[in-house]
Amino acid sequence: MDNKKFGTMIDLLLMQKEFIKRHLAPGGVAVDFTMGNGHDTAFLSRTVGESGKVYAFDIQIEAIESTRRTLLAEGCPDNVTLIHDSHENAALYIKEPINAGMFNLGYMPGGDKTKTTMRSSTIKAVRTAIELLAPGGAITVAVYPGHAEGAAEGEELARYFATLDKRNFSCTEVRIINSPSSPYFTLVEKK
Ligand SMILES: C[S@@+](CC[C@H](N)C(=O)[O-])C[C@H]1O[C@@H](n2cnc3c(N)ncnc32)[C@H](O)[C@@H]1O
Repeated sequence: MDNKKFGTMIDLLLMQKEFIKRHLAPGGVAVDFTMGNGHDTAFLSRTVGESGKVYAFDIQIEAIESTRRTLLAEGCPDNVTLIHDSHENAALYIKEPINAGMFNLGYMPGGDKTKTTMRSSTIKAVRTAIELLAPGGAITVAVYPGHAEGAAEGEELARYFATLDKRNFSCTEVRIINSPSSPYFTLVEKK
């Protein structure tokens, strides 16, 4: 990893992608659990390439439309299934093991701030993602504690991650400890 790239809030998002790339190869299966404007979906699509597969979820039709535009503008391979449903229902759509998944919690940048992820559905979706993980697979979960639901979501997720058996999973939290309201993320790797 290039250390010069990291160290600010926005660079934490880059760091997530660096971790994901270590677990995801061409031909792999990946999931964007919070597609928003589709930047993570596009990254996953390019990483798995023509022979791979990406599922992407969002509850807002605006996100589906925005992501479709992003994928087109970035010339991504035709390997993405856009799903207009809550990520807590992921198991209804995904019937195969996944190699990687990304959660960027919170609300859509530039969109309706009331349509934010909520801890009850987030926890269900993260549990499902972990159940779907193939050996050697990983998910990243980025939390935005600067708003009340985000802070509560982060606390509940941390309690859940702490229960995962260390013989099967490694959970690493990456955060700026002298800036507690900055975004941070957890990397969950299945052994
Ligand atoms: C921070 S944005 C994601 C940014 C996105 N990954 C990107 O690259 O542009 C969070 C997204 O989560 C979506 N969201 C909120 N609740 C959701 C749910 N239950 N299931 C799926 N997506 C949800 C929001 O609509 C919003 O678009």
